[in-house]
Amino acid sequence: MSHRSAKKPSGTRRERLPAMARRASRPLALALLAVLLLVPSPAAAAAAAAKAIDASKMRRLELPDSLVGPESVAFDAHGGGPYVSAADGRVLRWGGGDGAAGWTTYTYSPSYARNGCAVPSKLPPAATESLCGRPLGLRFHTESGDLYVADAYMGLMRVGPGGGEAATVLATEAGGAPLRFANGVDVDQVTGDVYFTDSSRIYRRSQHQMVTSTGDSTGRVMKYDPRTNTTTVLQSDVTYPNGIAISADRTHLVVALTGPCKLIRYWLQGPKAGTSELFANLPGYPDNVRSDGKGGYWVALHREKHEFPFGMNKHLIGVRISAKGEILQEMKGPKNVRPTELLERGDGKIYMGSVELPYVGVVGT
Ligand SMILES: *[C@@H]1O[C@H](CO)[C@@H](O)[C@H](O)[C@H]1NC(C)=O
Repeated sequence: MSHRSAKKPSGTRRERLPAMARRASRPLALALLAVLLLVPSPAAAAAAAAKAIDASKMRRLELPDSLVGPESVAFDAHGGGPYVSAADGRVLRWGGGDGAAGWTTYTYSPSYARNGCAVPSKLPPAATESLCGRPLGLRFHTESGDLYVADAYMGLMRVGPGGGEAATVLATEAGGAPLRFANGVDVDQVTGDVYFTDSSRIYRRSQHQMVTSTGDSTGRVMKYDPRTNTTTVLQSDVTYPNGIAISADRTHLVVALTGPCKLIRYWLQGPKAGTSELFANLPGYPDNVRSDGKGGYWVALHREKHEFPFGMNKHLIGVRISAKGEILQEMKGPKNVRPTELLERGDGKIYMGSVELPYVGVVGT
C-alpha cells in the first residue's frame, strides 16, 4: 500500500516533464531535472520532519543495591511505576521519592523464593539466573491489573494487582516443546490475550550471543489465552524473535528479529490471518518493541548494524516506526548505552530499559 502511493507522485511528475522541458530552455530543463531528483521520498521526508532525539542528557533512576539490567519497563493502570525486570530475578517497582530508596520488590518467580535467591550468592551470573529466574518482558493488563512477566528461564508468569508474592507460572511449554528463552510480551487490552516470544528452543538467555552467531532459527511466537489457561504456538522456526507489540488496531503483531535486524508483521485478523511478512528493515539490532501511543512503535536498538568502535561517542539507540513500517524518528546516545526498551508515556517522556546498565533512563522533559 505505502509502496504504491509512494510511487504515484514521481510517475506523474515524469509524465509531465517532457512537455515542460520542450518549452523550457536547455539549462532550465537541467535545473528542473536536478530539483526533481532532489525531491526526497515520502519516508525520507517523514524522517527529516522529526528531529532526532538526543538521549545523552537523560535523567537516571538508579536501581538499588548495585542491581543492574532493567530489561523491560512497565506502568500500571494508575500510572504507577516504572516497574522493571532486574538481573537478580526480581521485578521492582519505583514508588517515587529519592532515587534508589524509591524501589520495592514487586514480584519474583516461585524458584526465587524456593532457592533462597534473596541472599546474595557467589555463583556466576548464568547459574544464578537459571536458579532465580531472569524476568525480561513486562506488561500489565489494564482492566484486571494483572502483570504478565516473560521470564527467560521460568516461562510466562502472572501476578495479580498489588504483586508481592511469587508469581503464578502460566506456561513452561508450548506445542509439546519447553520454553527455553521466553523474552518479549504484550497484552491485547480488549481481549486480555497475551502474546509472547521464546527466542530459541536450543539456547538459553546466558547463551544469547550463540542465537545471533549461529543464525539459530528455532524461535517461536506464542499466544496465551487467560480464559482457558492454554498456550498455542502461532509461528515457529523464527530467527531470534525478541520484542513483540500488538498494533493499535489489534489486527496484527509486530515482532522484532534481533539477528536479522528486521521487524515482521504477523496477522491476527483479516485475509492474511496466520501469516507473516516483512514489516521493516532496521539500521540496528532490535530488542523490545513498544507502542508509541501515536499508532506507531519505538524499537530499542542495542547497536547499529555497521558500528565502528572508534569515532564519535554517539550511536543510534532507537527508532520510531510508523504504523506502516516507515522510520519516522531516530534516537541517539552514547555508545555505552545499549537499550533494550523505549517506552513513551503520554507526557512525552521516554523510559529506557537496558540489560546491563544500573539505572532506568528518562529521556525528555
Ligand atoms: C495454568 O496452566 C499451568 C500449566 O499448564 C498450570 O501450572 C497453572 O497452575 C494453571 N494456572 C491456572 C491459573 O489455572
